[in-house]
Amino acid sequence: MQTPSPGYSSGQRALHWIIALMILPMIAAGFLMVQQGLPRALGNTLFIMHKNMGVLVLILVILRIVVKLRHKAPPLSESLPAWQRRAAHASHGLLYVLMLVMPLSGYIRVRAGGFPIEALDRLGLPTLVPKSETLAATAKAVHELGAYAIAALLALHIAAALHHALILRDGTWSRIWPPVRR
Ligand code: HEM
Repeated sequence: MQTPSPGYSSGQRALHWIIALMILPMIAAGFLMVQQGLPRALGNTLFIMHKNMGVLVLILVILRIVVKLRHKAPPLSESLPAWQRRAAHASHGLLYVLMLVMPLSGYIRVRAGGFPIEALDRLGLPTLVPKSETLAATAKAVHELGAYAIAALLALHIAAALHHALILRDGTWSRIWPPVRR
């Protein structure tokens, strides 16, 4: 009989949940802060939180990709139909792409537009992109489109995870939960 895989390592689990806990409020704050008629103080606070936390997300996502390339994902259960395994690989790959595209396009949109990123400025870190209206507008369009894509993909990802955890109970959920491997 096949022994069940112990799932992801503690490091990979911890990174997954820390990044998840950061990205969900990033999406909520992002959609909220661009609404018309928001009180100015709230808008400013959300913008500052969004920009600075987004840079932290970028660093953690890069770390996560490095860990993933070194340790790989544990194999999916062979009891899953082939199409589900293909769908899981494709959607996880796309999520990694979007987790990079979102903070990068946000950074470029802000810096090319000549705006501050308070934590980086405080640390004296230089701007890595030239000031350019065209570049800022392109990055803004990518960031907006990416926002809908990552929100939709995450909704699918969370629905699939809950389906495995609550209905199928096939061990897929315990590959990544709890955040530290027992
Ligand atoms: C995982 C990372 C990120 C996610 C999930 C995310 C998500 C979002 C979302 C959902 C919006 C609203 C889009 C719309 O409908 O207009 C938004 C807007 C925005 N984000 Fe992000 N973001 C991320 C990282 C960043 C970073 C790192 C920065 C800058 C350092 C940034 C700067 C902005 C700005 C300036 C806007 C307003 C765009 C505009 O209307 O000019 N974002 N973001």
